[in-house]
Amino acid sequence: MILESTIKIESFVLFGALGNLSIRKLIPAWYYLERDDMLNDALQILGVGRQELSKSQFQEKVNEALSTYVSAEYLDADIVSKLLNRFNYCCCDLQDSNSYQELSASINKWNKPVAYYLAISPKLFERVFDGLNSAKIITSLCRIIVEKPIGYDLASSKEINAKLLKHFNESQIYRIDHYLGKETVQNLIALRFANSLFSSQWNSKSIDYVEITAAESVGIEDRWGYFDGMGQLRDMVQSHLLQLLCLITMEPPNRLNDQSIRSEKVKVLEALKPLFEESIESNFISAQYTAGENEIGYIHEEGADITSVTETFVSIKAEIQNWRWKGVPFYLRTGKRMSNKTTQIVIHFKSDGHYIFDQDRESLKGNTLIISLHPTESISLQVFTKPYGVDKHSTLRSDPMSLDFIKTQKLLNIPSGYQSLLMDILNGNQSLFLCKEEVELAWQWCDNALEAHKKSNQELYYYPAGTNGPKESELLIQKNGHKWHEGK
Ligand code: BG6
Repeated sequence: MILESTIKIESFVLFGALGNLSIRKLIPAWYYLERDDMLNDALQILGVGRQELSKSQFQEKVNEALSTYVSAEYLDADIVSKLLNRFNYCCCDLQDSNSYQELSASINKWNKPVAYYLAISPKLFERVFDGLNSAKIITSLCRIIVEKPIGYDLASSKEINAKLLKHFNESQIYRIDHYLGKETVQNLIALRFANSLFSSQWNSKSIDYVEITAAESVGIEDRWGYFDGMGQLRDMVQSHLLQLLCLITMEPPNRLNDQSIRSEKVKVLEALKPLFEESIESNFISAQYTAGENEIGYIHEEGADITSVTETFVSIKAEIQNWRWKGVPFYLRTGKRMSNKTTQIVIHFKSDGHYIFDQDRESLKGNTLIISLHPTESISLQVFTKPYGVDKHSTLRSDPMSLDFIKTQKLLNIPSGYQSLLMDILNGNQSLFLCKEEVELAWQWCDNALEAHKKSNQELYYYPAGTNGPKESELLIQKNGHKWHEGK
């Protein structure tokens, strides 16, 4: 028997080939993989879209996407031409079963295992699964790739998972959260489990509290309808922030493989304390942006419903109920239209022991480890040293010991998350993809938080666009004597 995971995929079908995700993220990611000589010569990519286009018209669209979303300094005509030659196109109305027969003609010509990437609305998933099935182009060796969000709540995610599992087995299903493709996120595993300095301190005895911030400066852009139905908790926390939380807190996996990593992440999600109605006010803040100095408010964005009370910001105090993390608060914060785009994890170590310096101890809390995903991909440890000077014996200053991956690894640019995820799909490595249990447990926790919030009648707060959220978010963390880390 051939093991599914040992097969290398050489035929890739991209549904939604003319959509936002494909144009902005996937096509540029293919380019960088081509540039870095990572792609097998035999790889072919079939774009599927609704527009009637010839192969060369589609290749022209791919070319436009490259010119727009790959920085001009990296664009090389020979690489572009090599990549374009891999692309073909099939016009397909996904609602029409006849369309799948045409698709099957192209796919059968390949006569190889195929990866189907659904960069389309989840509303169409079932239609596509049934279409592929009736055209007999689902085999035991093909792979199916779906993007987050998997559903809107626990019930809908279960439905999607059930539909997937009707046609594919779990080892064929690649559920994407693009945060897991980011280099620094993958580096969390190396940082934690390859450095005894950190692994020995990674627990409630040494760690005071942890912050995870994903602040975005963008607003809703052209996605108001989609976003308003979701809100920031479902859009960002349910997968991206909870995945980061899992990687920071999981126990060491027995091996570096998908099964071990996923099962450790599942244990974290199982240990995540549900937010209850009685305590929701002190643990959960949701807010919406109003007009800022230069930006309009959420309810005045294009296509907006002026009565919307959807949150564009949340901050949460979470707890993990297990031995390692007893009593450690994990503060999660994410919002649209904040002052800067900053994605970072900050680990605050405790400062205990006998203090012998003159400097006010309060002004020098414990060491902090800042793991930055944006604007830089870097890791920096704030350490205390003596300032230079003959009269400075008993004072201290705090400075970073920093690792900036671009500089230290002499990289041209940091690969986007999608590059490594696409490679993993081709090579059959599922460790950076979510399993069914992870998705469902994360939804259960979010559903619970939203339900508790609704029942508590806690108000929706407001913050001006271009700021760091409402003052209530500051209060949430200050109540415990903690403070959000702002800046790099
Ligand atoms: C997406 C969300 O999953 O992630 C968007 O749907 C969000 O709303 C985006 O803007 C953020 O991704 P990144 O990689 O820019 O932090």
